Amino acid sequence: MGIRFSEKYAAGFLRENDLKGMEPLVAAAHAQLEARSGLGNDFLGWVDLPVDYDKAEFQRIQAAAKRIQADSDVLVVIGIGGSYLGARAAIEFLRSPYYNNLKKDTPDIYFAGNGISGSALHDLLQICEGKRVSVNIISKSGTTTEPAIAFRVFRDLLVKQYGEEGAAKRIYCTTDKARGTLKQLADAKGYETFVIPDDVGGRFSVLTAVGLLPIAVSGADISALMAGAAAAREEYANPDLAANDCYRYAALRNVFYNKGKSVELLVSYEPRFAMMAEWFKQLYGESEGKDHKGLFPASVTFSTDLHSMGQFIQDGSRVMFETVVSIGDCGSDVTIEEDADNGDGLNFLAGRPMSYVNHKAFQGTVLAHTDGGVPNLVIEMDKADEENLGRLIYFFEKACAISGYLLGVNPFDQPGVESYKKNMFALLGKPGYESQKAQLEERLGE
Ligand code: PA5
Repeated sequence: MGIRFSEKYAAGFLRENDLKGMEPLVAAAHAQLEARSGLGNDFLGWVDLPVDYDKAEFQRIQAAAKRIQADSDVLVVIGIGGSYLGARAAIEFLRSPYYNNLKKDTPDIYFAGNGISGSALHDLLQICEGKRVSVNIISKSGTTTEPAIAFRVFRDLLVKQYGEEGAAKRIYCTTDKARGTLKQLADAKGYETFVIPDDVGGRFSVLTAVGLLPIAVSGADISALMAGAAAAREEYANPDLAANDCYRYAALRNVFYNKGKSVELLVSYEPRFAMMAEWFKQLYGESEGKDHKGLFPASVTFSTDLHSMGQFIQDGSRVMFETVVSIGDCGSDVTIEEDADNGDGLNFLAGRPMSYVNHKAFQGTVLAHTDGGVPNLVIEMDKADEENLGRLIYFFEKACAISGYLLGVNPFDQPGVESYKKNMFALLGKPGYESQKAQLEERLGE
């Protein structure tokens, strides 16, 4: 049961004292987190969230999910970044990347407001035509442009279809408890609201209503998800580096970074994990990529990407290490049957489930890549279920905090994200940005 971390395939790249040397630094990072004295300590709500969450709101989330399941064909989840990736990642991981096409008695779930493509939004509006639609708008600030545009469009659609009162019963707002235009709008229009706690940043918010409402609508068991995270919280509270998988992972990331590795490649062999890798990339990229420091988080899905990126990983610039998430039981499988002609020569695999072949691909690849000079860390999950996902989410979140402290950055802010917004607003002529507009246009040659 659970998840396990192993550095077995990285051992050949480590010196005896590499981990020992990290011990006092990890102890200091642990102490900072415990005492809430480190950088970004206003944003540590995720640490105790698996046990210390609003139980009454949790019941309301479950009730809202049931209502959406009963009265909707489609749930449109509007949000971006931390207000988007976790929910989508969990749904694809727990149900399927083909979730919307499965035979099921839960609504289709689409994600909008995670970009500014009019074409993508147009296509989604077409998909929704003639369907019973509900909307979950998720924005902590309530002012993010991408979701705000999509929400304006979908609110309009619902009002046209159901009238103001009917639309109000189909709009669910997940936002700040008191501040922001979205909260004001929700209160004025009577939309049901759910809270993103002040002390939980976007990329750490999947276990709040941000993730929990859409995940519950998909039919996944959010109580088991929270129970898994709670178990991980206990397990990874141990300050002893040798006994704490989460801390060893955090420490080894920094060992490899200090040895000149600049890329961490998150690997899985299951397409259901691909969006979890996107969630991981935001978590680590936004937490550590600052002050001109940090590992660049990248991801691949094997064996698919062995046929595209495999050459580079095996033999290109030696800039990376891999972290493989190896998943045992995914709940369904296909067995390769005996074929009388054996024209494809595959009878040596007859009777084998594809998961067996996939596992051999993993074993073969890990050996080839380590032979090629790429250290491999492995996180093993015995079964793709809610409890293990809760554990993995907490594992990555806590490792991210410790790793960020080891790197010497504030893992909980994201000042760099503002730069493009300022330029975009100025170029769009948003009131208040007049002086920058002319300067930027001159640089663009307009
Ligand atoms: O992690 C973050 O802080 C960001 O990815 C935000 O979640 C994202 O920008 C969306 O912000 P908001 O929820 O305020 O709309």
